[in-house]
Amino acid sequence: MDLLTKLAAVAAAAAMMLSGTLKEAAPQHDTDGTLFLVNRQQMVSPAFVPKGLREAQVPGQVRQLREDAAAALEEMYAACKEETKAQLTSVSGYRSYSRQNALYRAKLQRVNGSVAKAQEYVAPPGASEHHLGLAMDVGQQSKAALTNAFADTTGGIWMRENCWRFGFILRYGEEWEEVTGYKYEPWHFRFVGKELAKEIHDANVPFETWLAEYRVRVMKKMLEEDTP
Ligand code: DAL
Ligand code: ZN
Repeated sequence: MDLLTKLAAVAAAAAMMLSGTLKEAAPQHDTDGTLFLVNRQQMVSPAFVPKGLREAQVPGQVRQLREDAAAALEEMYAACKEETKAQLTSVSGYRSYSRQNALYRAKLQRVNGSVAKAQEYVAPPGASEHHLGLAMDVGQQSKAALTNAFADTTGGIWMRENCWRFGFILRYGEEWEEVTGYKYEPWHFRFVGKELAKEIHDANVPFETWLAEYRVRVMKKMLEEDTP
């Protein structure tokens, strides 16, 4: 191996190590990870398209999700059916920037241009978790979708109590509006991966709050491991 090839190999290894460390230390910026955070403070670019989108094989309308989330969703709907007989449906999964833009503009029109009113329930384009392919609006067959009444359906109750088993969390909980920026959405579930979903569910705090604490914990551990 000549010197240049050796140098290139060392640089590539260093880059891999660095990006590994960054993913661990700043999972909220890891676009391929399951802790990627998107909200009105941390938006994604219009060009962002998640890798590995596919249609989840479940009843409903907009069924595209990222592969890992789609597989978990299929497992979750089957378990709900088996345990309660209720059939969950997918109301809205992946939404591109332009789709979210159209939804946001339509909402703005309906509320006579009031941004505050529009943003009670609809994220502006670039600020939606639906853009990540990690969120699903869940409904129950033959029940009204996207209303608070979903919280009292068999499927809604089961989802609240069991979604973590499949790597999902309720994202916009009751009384979390000050942190999340959105009103209670008993239908919106976000995939965070099976490894951490129970911990986040049990913490019973908004994802933003849990993530900030988690990052402090991870940084502390990394510093301790680095200390001679
Ligand atoms: N309803 C959620 C906040 C969204 O539009 O992404
Ligand atoms: Zn949603």
